[in-house]
Amino acid sequence: MNRKEYLEMMRGAGKLDYEIYLNTERLLACQKEPKDLCNPDELQFMIVHQVEELWMKLMGTTLLDIDDEMRAGRTLKALTLFRRVHLCQEMMSTQLALLETMSPKDYQEIRLLLGNGSGQESPGFRVLLKMPKDLWQTFVDIYLEGGKRTLEQVYDSEYSHDGAYMVAEALAEFDEQFQKFRNAHMQLIYRSIGVAANSLKGRPVEILDAGVRQKFFPDLWSARAEMTDRWGASHGVKRDKLEPKTDA
Ligand code: HEM
Repeated sequence: MNRKEYLEMMRGAGKLDYEIYLNTERLLACQKEPKDLCNPDELQFMIVHQVEELWMKLMGTTLLDIDDEMRAGRTLKALTLFRRVHLCQEMMSTQLALLETMSPKDYQEIRLLLGNGSGQESPGFRVLLKMPKDLWQTFVDIYLEGGKRTLEQVYDSEYSHDGAYMVAEALAEFDEQFQKFRNAHMQLIYRSIGVAANSLKGRPVEILDAGVRQKFFPDLWSARAEMTDRWGASHGVKRDKLEPKTDA
């Protein structure tokens, strides 16, 4: 078979049950036709963005379900769904590496076609930036105020590795994975357009640094720092060096 025939075959006829159920005809038409690509890497550029948008859609809807499960007191179900979200987050970060196989020059050709578009306009990302506030409120309502407990008790004085602790750690994991994505994305920018470049909105890419440091759940991080201070205060901030063990 020649290239044209293979490309035709990849599109499929859209008539088999698999194709009908998954709507492959529309899905596979969401990318430019080969003849319209500015270079072969443009297909990868579109697909990676589209796939990531789909993961964000799945994460957004799963987070809504998690909120419902927490409010209904179904902690174990909420934790399973958190695992799903964390896996999507991990995939989002690792999949960025695909774009590091694109040369800076190939990207410059693609970039000419992007108008002043920016990832900050991504519907999935915008939703994910908004949701953590509501999730935190639910955690406070159900696990802290509902259980008449403080974060200090959950993590330290009454620590029992219980549901409240597990949900808090799932939120911390979400925060950490989000930062990992932003870090990986920053590395991708350095790799493709350079460190000191301007974005297509004419802003220096360093404005993304603030996002890399953003924490959705600052209380979960300060709970650890306060704990370290407390334990340090009672067991010594700076301690004596350990003595090597000697056989008696
Ligand atoms: C060669 C590949 C890429 C380059 C050069 C690039 C570059 C950039 C730049 C310069 C910005 C800042 C835009 C502004 O000033 O508004 C940005 C933002 C963003 N990009 Fe990308 N990007 C790439 C790939 C991706 C991919 C694959 C995703 C997948 C989701 C993505 C998602 C985002 C998001 C969500 C933001 C907003 C980030 C934030 O507010 O922290 N980017 N990108």
